[in-house]
Amino acid sequence: MSMYTAPTLTRRAFLASAAGTTAAMLPFSLALPATAGTREISLRAAQGGIRIVPPGETAAWLYNDTVPGPEIRLRQGDRLRVTVNNALAEETTIHWHGLRVPNAMDGVPHLTQAPIEAGGRFVYEFDAVDAGTFWYHPHQRSFEQVARGLYGPLIIEEREPVRVDRDVTWMLGDWRLTKSGELSKDFGNRHDIHHSGRVGNTVTINGRVPDGFAVRKGERIRLRLINAANARIFSLDFAGHEPIVIALDGQPVTPHAPEKGLIVLGPAMRVDLIIDMTGNAGSRSSVMDRFYEGLEYRLVELVYDGTPLRERAPDWPLALPANPLLEPDLKAASRNEVVFTGGMMGEMVAQDMGESMGPGTQGDRNSMMGGMMRMMHSNTAWFINGVAADEASHDMAPMLTLEKGKSHVIAMTNATAWHHPIHLHGHSFRVGSRNGQPTHNREWQDTVLISPREKVEIAFVADNPGDWMFHCHVLEHQAGGMMAVFRVA
Ligand code: C2O
Ligand code: CU
Repeated sequence: MSMYTAPTLTRRAFLASAAGTTAAMLPFSLALPATAGTREISLRAAQGGIRIVPPGETAAWLYNDTVPGPEIRLRQGDRLRVTVNNALAEETTIHWHGLRVPNAMDGVPHLTQAPIEAGGRFVYEFDAVDAGTFWYHPHQRSFEQVARGLYGPLIIEEREPVRVDRDVTWMLGDWRLTKSGELSKDFGNRHDIHHSGRVGNTVTINGRVPDGFAVRKGERIRLRLINAANARIFSLDFAGHEPIVIALDGQPVTPHAPEKGLIVLGPAMRVDLIIDMTGNAGSRSSVMDRFYEGLEYRLVELVYDGTPLRERAPDWPLALPANPLLEPDLKAASRNEVVFTGGMMGEMVAQDMGESMGPGTQGDRNSMMGGMMRMMHSNTAWFINGVAADEASHDMAPMLTLEKGKSHVIAMTNATAWHHPIHLHGHSFRVGSRNGQPTHNREWQDTVLISPREKVEIAFVADNPGDWMFHCHVLEHQAGGMMAVFRVA
């Protein structure tokens, strides 16, 4: 059996550069230490091959010839400069998922920048305002570019991190492979768009179908989970262990045991765990994914070394230092209703919930069915407040204008039969309630998974000016119209 260990591509990928660059473009009032420096890295997007299931090679699109792309790591307060070379045969961009960057650095084609053309180049540069676990991926035809392998982790280290024995990143990928081990080319097909998206058949950790993950009894690991799948939702069970959640979407949360012991990650979401390896020396323990009923499978096995590291788990503190987020003032907040409709069986759910499906579908059932029929024959499938966006052009008038510096509540209703991980760019938001019940931890997130028929309220201070994407991170749903722009001005 081959032992699986997370690759440490990271530091090598950096050219430590000119120290002492000051934070001229810092978008938030975060005081930087005088030692803050600039990290430089270059990313080249190009076609290549990877060994998902060795020894076979699968053609893919890669950053710097690896999947995931290089793990970018820097300290909070440092500045990052990334030169992107596009060696693909089509346009691309890079979006820094979850990072609160200036709007011009957000990587949304047509909205915040011109797409990087084939053979072109673009330099992204911004300060690492928040510490945490983030990631990067294209925002141009992402349903295909991400599915082909363009994604990578971006870790911002705390100035005072929690103490652990090992800091490990597991970037979860999901591939739809043919029998011969090629990527299935049915990207963005109508069925995926109207249903749960491109759920694949081969799950990888850091680009490989994992076998075992070597651990030692008594070891404390900080495990950074990143869901880079187009559509797959994970619900991980570390049976026999008691993982503690310390951060969600990069943002610290009161350390807590996950509900029912399951770590749920919708597409684009991250969870930082502290796991004490409490198994016996020489034993093995399975990590299962239980999200899809009847389709449980073993993600990986924890393989205990014969020699313990220590007999008992350490009692080091678990809480992370807070990031500089502004607390929303719920009493003064504006209230905005957002309703999601569409998708297969959507007319039934919408009708049950007293919502209409979309333009031309208001009113009687006949016109609603007419709208459904029109939808079935196009790739427009999903609506936000009755509007389906055109993903190809990203051409959208702002759906909401949020007053800068003020608090805003977005009350979301999922009037569809499907799960949607809803992502807002440029901000982290507090998840205040689900179906009217306050959440336990009022967690900060940038992507919130909303169940069918669920109502979720989020709140945040709109402190980052610009036009920001608000969309479903099931990339096929996004391609099917489930995106909008919020303007902060
Ligand atoms: Cu991770 Cu708009 O994206
Ligand atoms: Cu969706």
